[in-house]
Amino acid sequence: MRNGDQNDIFNHIPLMRPWLDETEWQALKEVILSGWVSQGPKTAEFERALASFTGAGFGVATNSCTSAIHLAFLTQGIRPGDEIIVPVFTCMADANAVLMAGAVPVFADIDERTFNIDPECAESMITHRTRGLLIVDQIGLPADLDSLTAVARKHDLIVVDDAATSLGARYRGKPLGGHGLVTTFSFHPRKMITTGEGGMMLTDSEEIAEKARIYRSAGASVSDFERHRAKGMILQQYDVAGFNYRMTDIQAAIGLIQFGKLEEMVRIRNEQARYYTESLGSMDELECPHVPDYAESCFSSYLVKIRKGCPVTPSGVIRVMSEKGISCRFGIMPLHREPYFRGRNLPDTLYPVCCDVASRSFFIPIFPGLKSGEMKTVVSVLKSVFKRSF
Ligand SMILES: Cc1ncc(COP(=O)(O)O)c(C=O)c1O
Repeated sequence: MRNGDQNDIFNHIPLMRPWLDETEWQALKEVILSGWVSQGPKTAEFERALASFTGAGFGVATNSCTSAIHLAFLTQGIRPGDEIIVPVFTCMADANAVLMAGAVPVFADIDERTFNIDPECAESMITHRTRGLLIVDQIGLPADLDSLTAVARKHDLIVVDDAATSLGARYRGKPLGGHGLVTTFSFHPRKMITTGEGGMMLTDSEEIAEKARIYRSAGASVSDFERHRAKGMILQQYDVAGFNYRMTDIQAAIGLIQFGKLEEMVRIRNEQARYYTESLGSMDELECPHVPDYAESCFSSYLVKIRKGCPVTPSGVIRVMSEKGISCRFGIMPLHREPYFRGRNLPDTLYPVCCDVASRSFFIPIFPGLKSGEMKTVVSVLKSVFKRSF
């Protein structure tokens, strides 16, 4: 039984459900019975699998994408006080990773059609303290990597590409992760594949990968598994103070099975997105996601925008959909409005596109276990919402 079949048990249509079945269960049993459950051979295999799929040189698996982004900053020399440009329309984890490196997140507005960071806005936020650019490929859609890396090159900035939600998406025909950037992925259950929690940093640089492995494991020069293999004959040393950002082999065993399903999951999600776009795109009140020519989205989520002038609000939609047993969610909230950043007094006028998108958008269910009958229900209830008066 795939757990998508359990929607009936909950008697509602969830926003998202991971695609797990007996194959993950079997892999879990095998790794547990192997006797090696902390970071070891399965983690290394998972790293090689993603590196090979994307075309990156090296993978460094972590316990989350947030820690992978943190490692990406540390290994590229980001220091306390450095400024990093971050899209304002993203989750707090991106700002947190910057803050964890002691740096300062500086927000830039987004492109209104792709919801990704606008290269011109990013460039306009650069000061003499700016050292890096955190690109985010939001909601399964690659950002405009060529324009953004050109800005970074011009201003000598390090680049991290946060593709947390976008494993399997392609930029100019190549999977994200294979464009020579330091790229990160998340394996939280709302992402393309899941290990429960988890993340990975991909890079072409052996030096960055090696440094990341050391920071990932308390700053130790030798991993637990290497020590085990050497039968206690080697001793680790600590040249830097590090973290415990390790992925376990239990997680990696699940990740390898999930990764084997990635291509099929991307195909199903694209089919589902096509159905939504065909069914909802002709409505006067709604705008469906735009995919530019340079990109192939993996549709990790499906964000719908209410057209300007329509009196219906996202909260009205979410409430009615919920009453009918369908889970929707607000779009991403602008980071500059979070209480943590209130002291900076960043006005909405600095981020007009993000504020506008956030005020008009909401997510609808999309995930591989979602049945076509359920999608029809989502569409018909959504259409009925716009016929009601609020
Ligand atoms: C764009 C983006 N980056 C980073 C993260 C953080 O990922 P994790 O929860 O694996 O740390 C998320 C999580 O939602 C995300 O959406």
